[in-house]
Amino acid sequence: MSPTSIGSSSSSSTGSLNSTKSWIFQGIVAGVAIAAAVGARFYLGRSGKFRSRVVGIIPARYASSRFEGKPLVHILGKPMIQRTWERAKLASTLDHIVVATDNENIAEYCRSFGADVIMTSESCRNGTERCNEALQKLEKKYDVVVNIQGDEPLLEPEIIDGIVKALQTAPDAVFSTAVTSLKPEDAFDPNRVKCVVDNRGYAIYFSRGLIPFNKSGNVNPQFPYLLHLGIQSFDSKFLKIYPELQPTPLQLEEDLEQLKVLENGYKMKVIKVDHEAHGVDTPEDVEKIESLMREKNLS
Ligand SMILES: *[C@@H]1O[C@H](CO)[C@@H](O)[C@H](O)[C@H]1NC(C)=O
Ligand SMILES: *[C@@H]1O[C@H](CO)[C@@H](O)[C@H](O)[C@H]1NC(C)=O
Repeated sequence: MSPTSIGSSSSSSTGSLNSTKSWIFQGIVAGVAIAAAVGARFYLGRSGKFRSRVVGIIPARYASSRFEGKPLVHILGKPMIQRTWERAKLASTLDHIVVATDNENIAEYCRSFGADVIMTSESCRNGTERCNEALQKLEKKYDVVVNIQGDEPLLEPEIIDGIVKALQTAPDAVFSTAVTSLKPEDAFDPNRVKCVVDNRGYAIYFSRGLIPFNKSGNVNPQFPYLLHLGIQSFDSKFLKIYPELQPTPLQLEEDLEQLKVLENGYKMKVIKVDHEAHGVDTPEDVEKIESLMREKNLS
């Protein structure tokens, strides 16, 4: 596994990267300041830190138009859902991890390796809705919910911790997510979602098109384009109203759910990480990820 360094970039050594670095840096400085203030209160014996109770939810549905039974598919001998759960277990910010599923086989298997399972209805339209339903059914209260997609078996736990801390240190944001460097060959792939951020690391926009767009019409090799990674965390109060927000024009046009958050004026914090995205969307992806894991000696 390649090490994940939150807030650093593997490629690029250009001037424009400095602006990217600076929002990360400001974020860290602000984070430290808030953490210090919050920490002081904590030691005074009063209420705990901001958004301190965190649950990770892995939504896993059986039926999928592209890949039936995907969560249980074996990757080098171990079901994908178990790999995701084991990765999530390594995150230090999660108080609790649950699998949310509509399927008894998935539930039974997950219980067999020790996971907590919440049964959710088949009517959930997507992972966000499933997370919301699971959150309502949990006995304890949580301030932050991390939606851990089950189709990234190589997800680094540091990324989970990074987005949780981003939300804990940005009280004005209700949503946090991660981006990594976009490979030039993915620039015009509409399945790779691009993101632009302001100089404090808040999302400005997401698009399936290349943003920003250079007037030459080509990919600018100097520019540090950002690729959106699927992982998200939400303030739990926001997660309750999120499904009720009506679809918005940009969301519908781009077919990107997260745009609804921005179009309604909510703030979203974005962290930059080093990460090779190896999502499993189709049966063919399984072979790809297995050969990669063999190559890198991962088991
Ligand atoms: C566009 O990309 C080229 C490199 O391909 C770069 O030299 C130029 O500064 C970029 N921006 C503009 C406004 O042309
Ligand atoms: C996914 O769920 C959200 C929140 O419940 C909903 O608003 C959105 O429209 C759904 N997206 C799709 C593609 O069904």
